Amino acid sequence: MDAESANKTGKPTDILDRLGKRSLVFVGLMGAGKTAIGRRVAQVLGLQFVDSDHEIEAAARMSIPDLFESYGEAEFRSLERRVISRLLKSGPQVIATGGGAYMNEQTRRAVARNGVSVWLNADLETLLERVSRRQNRPLLQNADPAEVLQKLMDERYPFYANADVVVMSRDAARETIADEVIDALAAHLAKRKFRRGSGS
Ligand code: S3P
Repeated sequence: MDAESANKTGKPTDILDRLGKRSLVFVGLMGAGKTAIGRRVAQVLGLQFVDSDHEIEAAARMSIPDLFESYGEAEFRSLERRVISRLLKSGPQVIATGGGAYMNEQTRRAVARNGVSVWLNADLETLLERVSRRQNRPLLQNADPAEVLQKLMDERYPFYANADVVVMSRDAARETIADEVIDALAAHLAKRKFRRGSGS
């Protein structure tokens, strides 16, 4: 669905009404496509898009690899939590988070309060193919990326699985996946409204 035909269906208007001030928060592993798909969804919905990794880099005035190198992962995680908490205060917008962000309990609670979470699920093969295109991920620098990603899938997928909306990311056009996110989001928001309306 392109932006124009989406408007004709009235879906974005409906979604925006139901979202209110909540942001759409993309979670999922490195290489799942959170930035590419998130940007596209934001465009269709007419919302601002923001990438938490970029905001962290702007706040720290250094790249994520340099942050890890100079201050360590714990400092990065602390900054990540604070940046996402700040971003959630200026919804509605579409926020793509770094792969580890949703592992923080405070962040999960803040997202539940001020957002609707979208997990871009993906299999190992898809993730590996995507992360091999860039060398900007400290967690994948010093070891076998397949092994690291598999371990992160085992650790993180049970948490991501609690997201409000789950869509399978795969080797398909970003427009296709973005449409699926919008459909799943519309279904999720409609369900919530029905529950409220029915008084249960
Ligand atoms: C990380 C994912 C990265 C970035 C950092 C750590 C992770 O973001 O935040 O390198 O712990 O999975 P992307 O998921 O956008 O690559």
